[in-house]
Amino acid sequence: MPLGRQMERRATSSGLDSPVRTKVAIVTGASRGIGRGIAERLLETGYCVVANSRNITSAKTLPPGDRLKLVDGDIASSDIAKQVVDSAIGNFGRIDLLVNNAGVFIPKPFTEYTTEDFRKATETNLWGFFYVSQLAASHMRLRKSGHIVNITSSIVDQPVAGLTGSLVNLTKGGLESVTGALAIEFARDGVRFNSISPGVVDTPMHGVEAHEFLKQLSPLNRLAEIAEVVDLVLFLECAPFINGEVIHLDGGAHAGKW
Ligand SMILES: NC(=O)c1ccc[n+]([C@@H]2O[C@H](COP(=O)([O-])OP(=O)(O)OC[C@H]3O[C@@H](n4cnc5c(N)ncnc54)[C@H](OP(=O)(O)O)[C@@H]3O)[C@@H](O)[C@H]2O)c1
Repeated sequence: MPLGRQMERRATSSGLDSPVRTKVAIVTGASRGIGRGIAERLLETGYCVVANSRNITSAKTLPPGDRLKLVDGDIASSDIAKQVVDSAIGNFGRIDLLVNNAGVFIPKPFTEYTTEDFRKATETNLWGFFYVSQLAASHMRLRKSGHIVNITSSIVDQPVAGLTGSLVNLTKGGLESVTGALAIEFARDGVRFNSISPGVVDTPMHGVEAHEFLKQLSPLNRLAEIAEVVDLVLFLECAPFINGEVIHLDGGAHAGKW
């Protein structure tokens, strides 16, 4: 049984986390890949979910129901961020969990990046974190409870020769750093901040033809499954003393050379 499901079962049977059935989560970038997996599992677990992406409605990838609300739009926009947060509070009364998952990876040598690349990476990865996190954190602070999880990238700590993508370091590195800063800033307010730093995950971000090369980027010689990222989100939800942490999910790549 996957770890996340074990944690869900433990949380429910122990009564330690009995409100789990009515918890409310926001997941950005939820139309496919990791975000979709997180939103699906949260719904299965009993959460109410506000799912965002630019095309989340037309994607039709999440199971419809009373516990799911969709907000279309670019999460880099402060208006969209406000719509997302307003939807959670307006429809479900509060926000317990925000997963900042929407992100882009633009693999290029540093000197070939264009202004448009720089803008896209900065907007999606940083602005897409900033506005929605500000709004969610200020709501959570009032309730003295909440958890914000960022999806970063193992490239931040483990750059790899032959895999150039330094805009990820520039942007996701900032998210990893701010995870600690905000964990400290909000600790007395009952709001936690953590990050999950995956290696290569098997999502639509990567064509199947690249898998053989990408497998070599982990000592375990495989890609991570989406379910393994989802398990970590659920684990962190059940681990209230973990705060300000960046958890690597890369088969050990961050630990050294192999
Ligand atoms: N896959 C990996 O190997 C890997 C490794 C390390 C880290 N990550 C990180 O994990 C996260 C998810 O990756 P993934 O592989 O699942 O990506 P993906 O398959 O490309 O999916 C990205 C999701 O984000 C949405 N999105 C993109 N730009 C957006 C924006 N400006 N506003 C709102 N939604 C936006 C997309 O939907 P729309 O097109 O509908 O907007 C889609 O739902 C990203 O932050 C990525 O950097 C991935």
